[in-house]
Amino acid sequence: MNVLLIGSGGREHALAWKLAASPLLEKLYAAPGNPGIAGEAECVALDVDDHPAVAAFCREKAIGLVVVGPEAPLVAGLGDALRAAGIAVFGPSRAAAQLEGSKGFTKDLCARFGIPTGAYGRFTDAVEAAAYVREKGAPIVVKADGLAAGKGVTVAMTVEEALAAVATCFDGAYGKAGAEVVVEEYLDGEEVSFFCLCDGVTALPFGSAQDHKRVGDGDTGPNTGGMGAYAPVPAMTAAMEERVMREIVEPTVRGMAELGHPFSGVLFAGLMITASGPKLIEYNVRFGDPECQVLMMLLEDDLLPLLLAVAEGCLSGLSAHWRDQAALTVVVAAKGYPGTPEKGSVIRGLDRAEEAGAKVFHAGTAKRDGVLVANGGRVLAVTATGHSVAEAQAAAYAAVDRIDWPGGFCRRDIGWRAISRG
Ligand code: AMP
Ligand code: GLY
Repeated sequence: MNVLLIGSGGREHALAWKLAASPLLEKLYAAPGNPGIAGEAECVALDVDDHPAVAAFCREKAIGLVVVGPEAPLVAGLGDALRAAGIAVFGPSRAAAQLEGSKGFTKDLCARFGIPTGAYGRFTDAVEAAAYVREKGAPIVVKADGLAAGKGVTVAMTVEEALAAVATCFDGAYGKAGAEVVVEEYLDGEEVSFFCLCDGVTALPFGSAQDHKRVGDGDTGPNTGGMGAYAPVPAMTAAMEERVMREIVEPTVRGMAELGHPFSGVLFAGLMITASGPKLIEYNVRFGDPECQVLMMLLEDDLLPLLLAVAEGCLSGLSAHWRDQAALTVVVAAKGYPGTPEKGSVIRGLDRAEEAGAKVFHAGTAKRDGVLVANGGRVLAVTATGHSVAEAQAAAYAAVDRIDWPGGFCRRDIGWRAISRG
């Protein structure tokens, strides 16, 4: 089968690497891909916003499955357009992608179907939002309703900070995404990224991982897209997974079907494990980045038939199998990230880093005159496995230290929570 993968990040490199290992794969295309993905796929310059052009490409190349990596094309309805053209897609419809595209939509779904999450209010008026903030007090969380490229969320420790965040949203800092604001209860606990494959009816647990959102060691500094991840997560015991399926995922899948928007794709639940049990922070409608990198290292099964079963609505009866190991990925970012990253610095030594068994996924790289250079904020995801998180961490940092890239930096404590548990 020929497959088209949409995206260009570390998540997509990990998906490409795993798809390329499938005996069912004939040819993999990636749009736009990156220099790492180019080792696994033919990278093509397709405008993913031009849905008829993508459909025409799929017909021309006899694509049997389109795998959509990032959320933006899903929220823009690429899945609907391709399905209407008779092409199988891994990724939800535009209506189902509202689970990520509108935080207010998800909160209302939780309220309607009894899914545990923080208390909240939805506002299109700055004065009303500010009054709600004052009434509830701090700590409190202010979110732009729509997609704001990982920004748009303020975890405010004071009322003043929350009021400033409300003003920022309504002043247009996030464009249309901030025209509506969700103000919600601050949840205290341990955060877990939990994944399920869903075909509209059936939900299959598909691993969990822990991300490290802050840029600095010890979880300090500004939020990022994620500076590293590891799996499995000790807090996500079999009993906890069962509870999350029963209380959060299954009511969501049933609720979305009842609303007429069955969810097909990977449902990424951002959870807070609080003292009173698991609560939903937010949904994403795609794999996490960098969580996907560790999941792909641990997945024993062929990925392609699983994604195809999702697209074709025949997930029931399937299961996923994982290596009895830990995996850990360290994101190496360009200096300046998460502000304005410096572009163009030369990266060397990736072969040496991989010699010891690590896998270096490319996230934001480019080739200039045959030389690999930085071309984004998060540039590399250096990923390794081991018998424990500590072993995987040692292997990942040993590989990081073989990379010659003075323009990059990374956190040195990825995995600390699992390792400190002993
Ligand atoms: P998001 O961009 O929605 O992933 O949010 C960024 C981060 O903000 C999350 O990963 C959490 O660490 C934090 N966060 C979001 N909502 C809450 C909440 N209700 N309580 C505590 N922390 C939150
Ligand atoms: N690493 C978090 C995300 O992909 O949203």
